[in-house]
Amino acid sequence: MAFHGKVALITGGGSGMGRLAARNLAAEGKDVAIFDISADGLAETATGHAGIHHWVVDITDGEAVSKAVAEVESTLGPIDRLYNCAAIMPFGKLLEQDAAVMKKMMDINYGGLVNITKAVLPGMIARGQGDFISFASMAGILPTMLTGGYSATKAAVAFFTEVLYHEHLNSGVRFACVCPPTTNTPLLEQGKATAWPKMLDQGTMLDPQDVLNAIDIHLEKGKFWVFPNRDSRIGALIRRFAPGLLWKQIHQVEGF
Ligand SMILES: NC(=O)c1ccc[n+]([C@@H]2O[C@H](COP(=O)([O-])OP(=O)(O)OC[C@H]3O[C@@H](n4cnc5c(N)ncnc54)[C@H](O)[C@@H]3O)[C@@H](O)[C@H]2O)c1
Repeated sequence: MAFHGKVALITGGGSGMGRLAARNLAAEGKDVAIFDISADGLAETATGHAGIHHWVVDITDGEAVSKAVAEVESTLGPIDRLYNCAAIMPFGKLLEQDAAVMKKMMDINYGGLVNITKAVLPGMIARGQGDFISFASMAGILPTMLTGGYSATKAAVAFFTEVLYHEHLNSGVRFACVCPPTTNTPLLEQGKATAWPKMLDQGTMLDPQDVLNAIDIHLEKGKFWVFPNRDSRIGALIRRFAPGLLWKQIHQVEGF
């Protein structure tokens, strides 16, 4: 196991990969703090897991995030590992998607990362250790039609985290930016309820545990970018070296 500390903080711990990470770590005897906007989701994650402690926090509220982080550190101790999972994923054609929805998505997916970074990273830097994990997405590396608003937020997450990593290269803190392809969690229901690109049905759907395993393996090897499976590794390469080819395929698959 790549996690050497005692205390983890997980945003978006009320569902999906955040929930799974919380339960895995609690089963290993770690103290896990979870933040989420959904009180029901938090309670469900924590039920039956003594090591999981929860806070209702809207990740877009910087003051509330700082206050909750201070409470976590005073009750559980310094945060050794951070998973930034909180996100929403409404899809749609860019001109059809509501501007307010797109701005809200940026505020949660990217603004939430900024807030949690300001609250947690300085402590890790001061202690010279910690694991800082950002959830970007393949959608932020390899955009497709209908995911434009979401892809923009995840590209922002990827760039922010990449620069953060380089600005603290010799700090002792380990950074990982994970770019999962479609992964089997409740988040997908949000995409399906709005607009669903056929491209997202092209690859294999990943199991959330595979994503979490890939994070641990990459952290241990000191690798920043986490592309959790073969499809995502190949996709990133094609995007880099042959974006035109990729767009040709996207138009063919989507039919417009
Ligand atoms: N599932 C996928 O296919 C996939 C693929 C690539 C990347 N990701 C990324 O992985 C991360 C985890 O996703 P997941 O699939 O487990 O999603 P999920 O929907 O299961 O969980 C996300 C959690 O974030 C919470 N959240 C939403 N808005 C919030 C806010 N304002 N404040 C606090 N919490 C809030 C939700 O209540 C939810 O519990 C996300 O960043 C997502 O973008 C997911």
